[in-house]
Amino acid sequence: MADTFADVADVVSRFAAHGYLADQRLATTVFLQSRLGKPVLLEGPAGVGKTQLAKSLAEVTGRRLLRLQCYEGQDETTALYEWDYGKQLLYTQLLREKIGQIVGDAEGLTEAVGRIAAEESVFFSEQFLAPRPLLEAVRSEEPVVLLIDEVDRADEALEAVLLELLAEYQVSVPELGTYRAKREPYVVLTSNNTRDLSAALKRRCLHLSLDYPDAERELAIIQSKDTGLPAALARALIDVVRGLRELDLRKAPSISETIDWARTLAVLGATELTADLLAQTANVVVKYDRDLRRTLEVLPKLVDPNAELPGDAPGHSHGHGHEHGHSREPDHSHGPDVRAAKDEPGRHDEAYYGPSGPGRTQPAVGKSQGERSFNAHNARRRPV
Ligand SMILES: Nc1ncnc2c1ncn2[C@@H]1O[C@H](COP(=O)(O)OP(=O)(O)OP(=O)(O)O)[C@@H](O)[C@H]1O
Ligand SMILES: [Mg+2]
Repeated sequence: MADTFADVADVVSRFAAHGYLADQRLATTVFLQSRLGKPVLLEGPAGVGKTQLAKSLAEVTGRRLLRLQCYEGQDETTALYEWDYGKQLLYTQLLREKIGQIVGDAEGLTEAVGRIAAEESVFFSEQFLAPRPLLEAVRSEEPVVLLIDEVDRADEALEAVLLELLAEYQVSVPELGTYRAKREPYVVLTSNNTRDLSAALKRRCLHLSLDYPDAERELAIIQSKDTGLPAALARALIDVVRGLRELDLRKAPSISETIDWARTLAVLGATELTADLLAQTANVVVKYDRDLRRTLEVLPKLVDPNAELPGDAPGHSHGHGHEHGHSREPDHSHGPDVRAAKDEPGRHDEAYYGPSGPGRTQPAVGKSQGERSFNAHNARRRPV
């Protein structure tokens, strides 16, 4: 049946058919999810395919995708449900005459209020309920994939709200009762490790740390994206990207950046990967000035291990074809505060949000985070 998987190999091949190349660990997790009915929690750096996994799962199983994008300060009205205040107001206007009849012959305010109160459940009925993704997932007639994206950005209070859902696939609305999913949703949670998630949340999930793929799989991913870059160049490009990932960059290039770089080089008609060409296009993959400077410094060495770097002592060219040490040496261009921050757990926060990670003096919420939260919030607001 399209909705479940026969075995792990079935997961691998069906995801591949939809352009997602899952390794054995990931495919096993997805298979177990479909059999055990447990949510999956994917943690890992930016751009390693966490969100895409949920999207592909929806495509592969033919399920509708519901997405809850988490952000700081989010409350349950954007996650669970809201009462549609605008609609309630509209109905009271339209029903003014009827309401007038109900309270018309009431003696005094107290009696009038009492009569309205007797009717108030009308305004807290399904009619006026505005379900948000979590409730929608549970109420859906058809089985869905529920993506709870970047859950580490939400506050712990929202995490608590998630617990009931994740354990029982149910949501309680005090005025209406408890909704239980008719068909269990496949739930995928993602986290960039900006903070530790609660043990209670982790316990309810199949937990998997995703990291950058090995060179072979990354090559397969690049080739599956029809970037137009010849295979030999793609292979060389991946070696360069992997070299960059070993540098102490604030934001290491992810799979999506490798794809972008390959596309860029293909558009430019590259027939050879020279350090010059890579340097001219490095801004596609490296997004911070300091990272770019560091990248430009080491590119010649990554392309050709025999290349002389400006800082190399004369005769320092080793000529035996492997990278040793340059990419791992301490990065003096980074201040000690940055280095210290990199050693803390949750370093992806910094990689992800830039200069506002732990150990920095800026406030903990990066600008981009705020903007994305704002946009995500507004995108979900219904016109009233
Ligand atoms: N295994 C894979 N197979 C095919 N494409 C992949 C794979 N992993 C990543 N990609 C590509 O990388 C892109 C980025 O992945 P995605 O947006 O899922 O990353 P993410 O882990 O959610 O990152 P972020 O933390 O920034 O949200 C995807 O759109 C997809 O094109
Ligand atoms: Mg994502």
